[in-house]
Amino acid sequence: MERFVRGLPKAELHLHIEGTLEPELMFQLAERNGLELPYGSVDEVRAAYEFEDLQSFLDIYYRAASVLLTEGDFADLMAAYLARARADGVRHAEIFFDPQTHTERGIDVGTVVRGFARAQREAAPSITSTLILCFLRHLPPEAAVEVLEASRPFLDHVQGVGLDSGEAGNPPELFAEPYRMAVEAGLRPVAHAGEEGPAEYVRSALDVLGVERIDHGVRAGDDHALVKRLAEERIPLTMCPLSNQRLKVVPDLRDHNLADLMDAGVLVTVNSDDPAYFGGYVGDNYLAIAEALDLSRDQVVQLALNSIEASFLPEDRKVELRNEIAAYVAS
Ligand code: ADE
Ligand code: ZN
Repeated sequence: MERFVRGLPKAELHLHIEGTLEPELMFQLAERNGLELPYGSVDEVRAAYEFEDLQSFLDIYYRAASVLLTEGDFADLMAAYLARARADGVRHAEIFFDPQTHTERGIDVGTVVRGFARAQREAAPSITSTLILCFLRHLPPEAAVEVLEASRPFLDHVQGVGLDSGEAGNPPELFAEPYRMAVEAGLRPVAHAGEEGPAEYVRSALDVLGVERIDHGVRAGDDHALVKRLAEERIPLTMCPLSNQRLKVVPDLRDHNLADLMDAGVLVTVNSDDPAYFGGYVGDNYLAIAEALDLSRDQVVQLALNSIEASFLPEDRKVELRNEIAAYVAS
C-alpha cells in the first residue's frame, strides 16, 4: 500500500505553505537572517509540537513564521514543499498562504508572492501549483480588505481566496465584504469551516461567502441535511486526517467520519494541512486514514480521483490526470 499510495498521481488542495516550515529550514533561515530562536535544537522544536487544540498550534506556528524575511526565504520554503510533494505523487497543488502573518511584521506582499512564484515556476511542469490568499479570521474584516488591496498588484499569481486561523467565534459571515471584493477581483472562494466550528459555519460559508470548496468540514457530518446538500451539489471537502488527530478535532483516527462522508456521496479529498507540524505529508495522510478506516484500494484511488475533480484545474488537464491515474492503477 505504501508504494502504491506514494506513486498514485494526485492533487493537494489543502496545504498552508507556512505549515511546511521544517525545523531544519527554520534554523537555517534564523542563522541566515541573524535571528535567535527560542529553541536550542531541531529535536527541541519537534518536542514542542504537542497540541491541545487549534489555538495552541497557531501560537507556535505564527511565531515560527518570523524567520521568513526575504524573497529568497519564501522561495526556499516553496521549493522544499514542492520537491517533497512531488515525491508523494502530487502533480498539482493549490497552496494557501497567509499574507497578514508577514505584512504584520512589515514584509511587503510582493516579497512573499515573488518568492513563491519563482519556486513554483522552477518546479513546473513536473508539479504545477497555484496560490490561495487566506484572510486571518482572528483579525477584523477591515484588515482582510486592507491586505486584499495591498495584494492587488500581485493577483496575477493568485487563483483563490481562503479563510483560516482560529475558527470558533469567528464565523464566515463576518468576511462577506472582503470575499465579495476578492470574487469580484477574479479569485475563486474557499474557506475553512467545520474544523472546530459548528456545521452552521459550513452553511454560512456556502450561503454567505459562496465558497466552491469547504476546507476540513468534519463537523458537517453532524447535520444530515447538510451532508445531503454537499453530496448533491458536489461541494468538495478538503480533509486533513493527521491534522485532525494532532489538534484533537477527532479523538481517534478510527472515529474519523471521512469514510462515512464518502459513502454518503460527498466529494472528499485527503490533504496534509501543515505537514511540518502534524507528522506527515499527503502520502502519510492517505496511508494513516486508509489504515485507521480500513479503506480498500479502490477507495484510495477514489480519493485521488476526487482530488483531481475538486481542483481548479481546467477540464483538459483533469482528463489527462484522470488518465494518468487509470494507467497507474492498471500497471
Ligand atoms: N492555519 C494553518 N493551519 C490551520 C488550520 N488547520 N485551521 C485553521 N487555520 C490554519
Ligand atoms: Zn488548514
